Amino acid sequence: MRVLIIGSGGREHALAWRFKRDDPTVDLIAAPGNPGIAELAECVSIAATDLVALERLALELDVDLTVVGPEAPLALGIVDRFRAAGLAIFGPTQAAAEIETSKAFAKQLMLDEGIPTARAQMHTSAASARAAARAFGAPVVVKASGLAAGKGVVVCDTIEEADRAIDDMLEGNRFGDAGHEVLVEEFMTGEEVSVFAITDGRSFVVLPGLQDHKRLLDGDLGPNTGGMGAYFPVSLHDPAEPDTQLSVTAEASLSVFIPTLRAMAERGRPFTGLLYAGLMITPQGAKVVEFNCRFGDPETQALLPALALSPSLLSLMHAAATGAPFGGMPVMMEAAGASPVGSPMISMGAEGACVTTVLAAAGYPGTPRTGDVITLPPAEDGVVVFHAGTARDAEGRLVTAGGRVLAVSALGSDVAEAQARSLAHAERIDFAGKQLRRDIGWREIARTSRSSDV
Ligand code: AMP
Ligand code: GLY
Repeated sequence: MRVLIIGSGGREHALAWRFKRDDPTVDLIAAPGNPGIAELAECVSIAATDLVALERLALELDVDLTVVGPEAPLALGIVDRFRAAGLAIFGPTQAAAEIETSKAFAKQLMLDEGIPTARAQMHTSAASARAAARAFGAPVVVKASGLAAGKGVVVCDTIEEADRAIDDMLEGNRFGDAGHEVLVEEFMTGEEVSVFAITDGRSFVVLPGLQDHKRLLDGDLGPNTGGMGAYFPVSLHDPAEPDTQLSVTAEASLSVFIPTLRAMAERGRPFTGLLYAGLMITPQGAKVVEFNCRFGDPETQALLPALALSPSLLSLMHAAATGAPFGGMPVMMEAAGASPVGSPMISMGAEGACVTTVLAAAGYPGTPRTGDVITLPPAEDGVVVFHAGTARDAEGRLVTAGGRVLAVSALGSDVAEAQARSLAHAERIDFAGKQLRRDIGWREIARTSRSSDV
């Protein structure tokens, strides 16, 4: 099978690595790819948003499947364009991608369908948004509705901060069109879990959930980032369902994926590809923080080394893209009585734990410095280094080229062991200004030591 992967980050490197590990004969092409991906795939220098050139490439190379990593090409309608040209592609149409690209659309869908989420109001006028912030009371969350590169969410401790965020977006044009509608949202507390479902729009498979670490510094302090690390598996249970002992992942299939996918189909925009539910496990149960229309980054780098899956990830994704039966749970099934995860045709589990430590460049999450030379020692068995913001300079040296530079994923028998191995290797990689967290997975380690105390 010949597969075109679109994107250039750690997530796309992890997908390429997993496809090749499962099937060494798979023929991979990446656009634009990165120096890590280049060890597994032929990289073609076409931007992920150049839909015309990507379509030409896919037709010329006669690819069997295109896999889209980032949201930008999905928001531009790459899936609609490829399908019109008769090309199989994994991802949602532009209309279905609105579940990520319009937070107002996603929130309205959840409110209409009774899908658990924070209460919120949508506003285009600053005066009414300010009034909504007062009605909710501080702390309160203000969000730009459109895509804002992860920067459009402001958690406000005071009403004055909320007023400033509202004015920035609605009057100051801070995020351009993406911020011309805002959500004013109730503040939630709890741990966050990312859960992915692969779907052809009619049936779906939920993968085990995992946890991202969004803050820059140890102990979940400092500014928000795109993600400084992730770990798998997560042993959280839903506090609102103490008797079921269902994992958060299983709960999510029932309370989130079935109604959401059904509602998307009913609204004439069936969702195909990967639906990412960002959940907050509040004292009242799991609630949706956001949906994304693609794999998470860096969650993918922690999930794919440790996930045991049969049939293979690529064959499930190919089936989801082409509409071939792939044995998922039907979307239209009544939620009551549905078996929560999996199906007799799909087996899923974990080959131990995995911890991913991200190495970020100087200046991140602000404007990152680029061009620092990277020293990359060989990785031992059970450790894999995924490239994200790397490039080759004129002399062929590996240099930093983005905010998140590398993701160091290590397997272990449990999260504590995987953390130690990931960190040990991360410390051996060298470049000027390197930033990393040394505590990825700490919540799981604390949970396990608490439960072994009793
Ligand atoms: P989003 O882009 O919607 O995922 O928001 C980014 C981050 O902001 C989330 O991962 C949360 O940590 C935080 N956040 C978003 N919405 C809320 C909320 N309603 N309550 C508390 N934190 C939130
Ligand atoms: N790790 C968060 C995201 O992929 O959006």
